[in-house]
Amino acid sequence: MEELTIAKNKKWSSTSSSILIIGVTSNLGFEVAKASLHASHPTFCLVRSSCFSDPHKSQKIQLLSDSGAVILQGSLHDEKSLVEALKQVNVVICTVNSKQVLDQKPLISAIKKVGCIERFIPSEFGSDPDRMHISNMDQGFYSRKSEIRRLVEVEGIPHTYISCNFFMSYLLPSLVQPGLKVPPRDKVTIFGDGTVKGVFMNERDVAAFTISTVDDPRTLNKVLYLRPPGNVLSMNELVESWECKIGKQLEKTYVTEEDLLKKIKETPYPDNMEMVFIYAGFVKGFQTCFDVEASGGVEGTSLYPYLKYTTISMYLDTLL
Ligand SMILES: NC(=O)c1ccc[n+]([C@@H]2O[C@H](COP(=O)([O-])OP(=O)(O)OC[C@H]3O[C@@H](n4cnc5c(N)ncnc54)[C@H](OP(=O)(O)O)[C@@H]3O)[C@@H](O)[C@H]2O)c1
Repeated sequence: MEELTIAKNKKWSSTSSSILIIGVTSNLGFEVAKASLHASHPTFCLVRSSCFSDPHKSQKIQLLSDSGAVILQGSLHDEKSLVEALKQVNVVICTVNSKQVLDQKPLISAIKKVGCIERFIPSEFGSDPDRMHISNMDQGFYSRKSEIRRLVEVEGIPHTYISCNFFMSYLLPSLVQPGLKVPPRDKVTIFGDGTVKGVFMNERDVAAFTISTVDDPRTLNKVLYLRPPGNVLSMNELVESWECKIGKQLEKTYVTEEDLLKKIKETPYPDNMEMVFIYAGFVKGFQTCFDVEASGGVEGTSLYPYLKYTTISMYLDTLL
């Protein structure tokens, strides 16, 4: 396990918001907790008691605790634990996985009940669910996230939604080749005509941008989109970049939108989800086909130009 770079017993800032993070044993949640501590926020982590019998999870929790986080035992299904945890903070960030998104409903009720939460960042951290028009191919993957957005808005809970698009750890290691774990060195499949742009973000960078939003009035009740220069590429550009790095041209096969849709329908769920994400990102262009400002959202690198991030090229270098 990677060492935390946060100084042990680092002092909390008395002026920063106190943050409760739910889901710190996930990769993203762990990065969010580290970023919160790094920015000197009083940091609280709600973890389920079952985590302590898992060596990998308990090691993560110990590292966060050693770095100054307060570990609270509880669950989204235990209202008392939620209310007690929420009373100690004014910001909540949830990173439960996409299948558990609706489990945030009791959290929303508890946030309403305590009345002290000034910012809620629900579990999304992907493509903007309100912009994914993929006609029921995703088994409710995006509509569940939209349902949570509507509930948050109806309840009048101050919020920020993080639309970071694809994680680099997902799809990029294979150069967007379903079923592969490493990038191809001979042949590559390009979906659509290869000109539509998608976005990849490193999870650690997503965490740093997320933490930057919590006390920022510019992000209140907004969607924060992450589309940094160097991280928005079409499949043609991605393949070209890889070809330059390995010094070799790949043999290309193009899959039309129609053929991809056919393959998605023929492949059982959840095995077809990679193709659904590729269809939404690189064929329909739902991550990049709109102007952020005109949409009423805000863009991360414009708001926080000082934050350093991993570009796609830098990530591809690690795959050589
Ligand atoms: N953009 C992308 O490409 C991409 C890809 C993958 C994930 N994501 C996003 O990343 C985030 C994490 O997803 P993941 O799949 O990595 O998650 P995960 O590893 O499955 O972890 C889920 C976390 O939620 C916690 N949790 C689950 N049920 C809970 C409950 N009832 N009470 C309290 N905690 C509970 C789990 O705790 P336990 O340890 O107790 O189980 C764990 O810490 C999500 O927002 C997801 O949408 C984005």
